[in-house]
Order: sequence, then structure tokens, then C-alpha cells
Amino acid sequence: MNLEKFADMLPIPEVLKPHQQTKESTYYEVTMKEFYQKLHRDLPPTRLWGYNGLFPGPTIEVNRNENVQIKWMNDLPDQHFLPIDHTIHHSEGHHQEPEVKTVVHLHGGATPYDSDGYPEAWFSKGFQETGPYFSREIYHYPNQQRGAILWYHDHAMALTRLNVYAGLAGVYIIHDPKEKRLKLPAGEYDVPLMIMDRTINEDGSLFYPSGPENPSPTLPTPSIVPAFCGDTILVNGKAWPYMEVEPRAYRFRIVNASNTRTYNLSLDNGGEFLQVGSDGGLLPRSVKLSSISLAPAERFDIIIDFAAFEGQSIVLANSEGCGGPANPESDANVMQFRVIKPLKEKDESRKPRFLTNLPPVTDEKIQNLRTLKLTGTQDEYGRPVLLLNNKRWSDPVTEAPKLGTSEIWSIINPTRGTHPIHLHLISFRVLDRRPFDTAKYAETGNVVFTGPAVPPPPSEKGWKDTVQSHAGEVIRIMAKFGPYSGRYVWHCHILEHEDYDMMRPMDVVDPNQ
Ligand code: C2O
Ligand code: CU
Ligand code: CU
Repeated sequence: MNLEKFADMLPIPEVLKPHQQTKESTYYEVTMKEFYQKLHRDLPPTRLWGYNGLFPGPTIEVNRNENVQIKWMNDLPDQHFLPIDHTIHHSEGHHQEPEVKTVVHLHGGATPYDSDGYPEAWFSKGFQETGPYFSREIYHYPNQQRGAILWYHDHAMALTRLNVYAGLAGVYIIHDPKEKRLKLPAGEYDVPLMIMDRTINEDGSLFYPSGPENPSPTLPTPSIVPAFCGDTILVNGKAWPYMEVEPRAYRFRIVNASNTRTYNLSLDNGGEFLQVGSDGGLLPRSVKLSSISLAPAERFDIIIDFAAFEGQSIVLANSEGCGGPANPESDANVMQFRVIKPLKEKDESRKPRFLTNLPPVTDEKIQNLRTLKLTGTQDEYGRPVLLLNNKRWSDPVTEAPKLGTSEIWSIINPTRGTHPIHLHLISFRVLDRRPFDTAKYAETGNVVFTGPAVPPPPSEKGWKDTVQSHAGEVIRIMAKFGPYSGRYVWHCHILEHEDYDMMRPMDVVDPNQ
């Protein structure tokens, strides 16, 4: 489809209004619905699933320590409109019904386990059927954590890639009132950008493959694919939108909500980004960047100052393709900024160098080290199955850190691609990445390093919950497991990997219980 770029104005998702608010808590209700929405001026409306019938869902804005309850309701049709593979875990046999299962995860949230959106804590339409794990209708979010860009999305077992692709994702921002002193751009100058890729058929409907391109005759149909990138880039639910801006500084909260696609973002006029935060909140100091690498589920909190660009049109470009170079006709473009609005009033916002104090990683007392490898195997149909440490989802829990203790995880990636690894509940720190000999590793199973350990770039010196584990590298991360105990998960955030089978349960164990 050849859609004109920069034809639609960037939509700003509406902010969710509380159903009830008292001094003690804020209560919201959100209903997942099917609806139709125009993704581009020249396209017929697209069938989507979204929170409150919106794509992306409404932005949820809360304050640090605000006690939030959300009743998540499923009012979706009984049948999915995207191709479900019934041969992957928890979609087979008696797991086939109900066909449409949902569960909501607040990504980046320090959330009690029974509100975290465990994949098997799913529920069906009207909460008529529920999965085998702790289903509850009202989720509790204590928000006792740093101000940060979070996002909420579906996490149902073996359906996450389809439910998120259908539209079940939205931005969630925790404001820390103490951050006001930094005077970062605020209000209408603080804008969420949720980036996703989709392939859209001529009739406006979403395309998602029902199997690999040249399937062997023995493959089931539909059959899960190991990766999928759309050729159309959407920001806040519009294909290649434009935004009119004033010649001043803006803060952008960028979320990559794509299934598989990683972006490498830059401004086509050579302009700079000033990064102030990563997944888990503010960086210790702001970082000037000419480009941003953003894997699925990673977030960047940035400032762009348009003051010097009055009258210009600037493209937010993407240089990283997906299985090939970025195409100037399609995925090399994300959106456009038009610096044509008159300056309303003097820009009083600041670009501080020092943002927050971070404890040095070396201060942490480490109680346990784990070595985990990203592996792969084949299933009975000859399809690739990516695994964490050679274990399936259904294998007994192996990652069971003790509540309140700190661990270092060394993640070995002998595969050929980058996997964005995500842990629920906690934010971690990146210690280093170190290259190793993958050929030797394949032969002997031993890690032989081929270079020194490299500390993370300034962009990754803050709090992360999703990190790129690159091919041929061992990445070390450090995390303190808390403040809650219970059953969580860790996984690759390429949704096609997560669904089959690159996800594992994780128990945070309270020794006093
Ligand atoms: Cu963004 Cu387990 O999730
Ligand atoms: Cu998460
Ligand atoms: Cu992966």
C-alpha cells in the first residue's frame, strides 16, 4: 500500500478519567472493546481491539505513591480476528476455549503478583472464564516507585502477539512531584509517542501472517511465525503522522510497542535528542544523542529543542530495517515535526545536566549469581522454538530469587539476533556486555571471551527493565528482587518469541512465608 507520508496530524491519546477518587485511592474502569478507527486519511477504518475502544488505549497518568485500582473488563467478541496457532503451549486441546483470553500487564510496574497480569491469570469476556492462576477483576497498582514511562498491554498466554497487534496497548506515566524542580517541559509540551508497526490491507484491515511465507506441507495452519514486522509505521495510532510544534523544547515519552521491530531513530536535519530518562525513570545525568536504539518495550524519555529550527519540517527517521535495510518509501520514516506554530510564551523549561542520584552499582551486596543462556530448538513440525536456558514455559520454576536480595544475571546470547530481555516487578542496572566466541561455544558449550567487558553507554546507566542482549555477547545485569514476593515472569519482549517459548515463570520467594 502506498500511503502518503505525513498526511495526518499526530493524535494525542486522551488521558483516562478516574471513576472514583478519594484521598486514599483512585479507581478506574477500563473496557476492552472491538471498534473501527482510521489509521490514515486515505484508508477505510480498521477493525481493532482497544482499551476503552481506543488505539492506543487512553494514557493513564498517576502520581508516585498514588494508590490506584483498575477494573479491567473484557467486552471483546468471542472470536479472534487474527490467526491463532492452536499448536503452541496453552492453545492446544482443552486450552482452545475460550478463544479470546486477555490479561493486562503494567510493564515497568512494581506490582503485587496477583495484579501483575500473569499470562495464565487470563480472563474471558465478562469474566465468565478465568485461567488457572489468581485471576482478579480489580488490579491494584501501588505506584511506589520512581517517576517513569510505563505502558500497559495484553499478556495472555500464547496470544500476546495477536492481542497487542490487535491494539491492546497504552501509555502509563508515573509523575514524581519532586521532579518538578527540574523544570522539564510539561503540560502540552510533554507528549507520549507510542510507536508501532503494522501491515494494513487495502480495505483497511490489519494483516498478520497465518504462517511463514513458504510453509512446508506439514506445518499446521495457522502457524506462529518467529518474527513479524509491519511495513507501515504508526505513532499514537496514525501512520506516519505529523505534529505541529512551537520553536521551543518538548519532552517526548517514547515507547516501542511493536511486536518484533527495533528502531534506530534520528532527526533528518542532524538535530539532537537530549535523553533524560530510560525505562525506569531519570538518568543520573542527561545525555546528548544523535540516534536512539529502541527495541520492543524499551522507553526513552527525551527532550527535543525546536528553537533553532523555526519554519523547518523535520523527519523523525529510522535507519534500522527489519530483515533488510530500512526502505525510504516506508519504514525509514516514523513521523514529521513542523516547526510552524507561533511561540505562545517564552520557553521557561530547562535542560538540566544533573537529574537524579543513583547508587553506584558496586555498592550492592550480591547474594547470588545466575548464568542463563538464550537457546533454541525445533518442535515436532520443524519450526524454531526459542528458549530461555533450554526450558519451556511449562517446566518447573528455576529462577527463584529471595525477596530483598540482589543478584547478577549473566545472559549468554549465542543466537544470531538481539533479544530484548525483560524482567517483571523490578528495574535493574546494566553492568556490562562482553563478546565471546560463538563457534567455540557451539562446539564445547564454554564461553571464551574475545574482548574486554564493555560498560553500558550513558543511555543505559539508569534503571532498565528491558535490555538488548546482542548476538555473541554476554550481558550482565544486576537486580534487587522486591518489594513484593510471588509468581512473576521474565521473557524476551519480541512478542513472537515470548509466545513461543521464550518466557519463564519467576518466583520471588519470601523466606518467612
Ligand atoms: Cu511488556 Cu511481560 O511485558
Ligand atoms: Cu513487564
Ligand atoms: Cu527473542
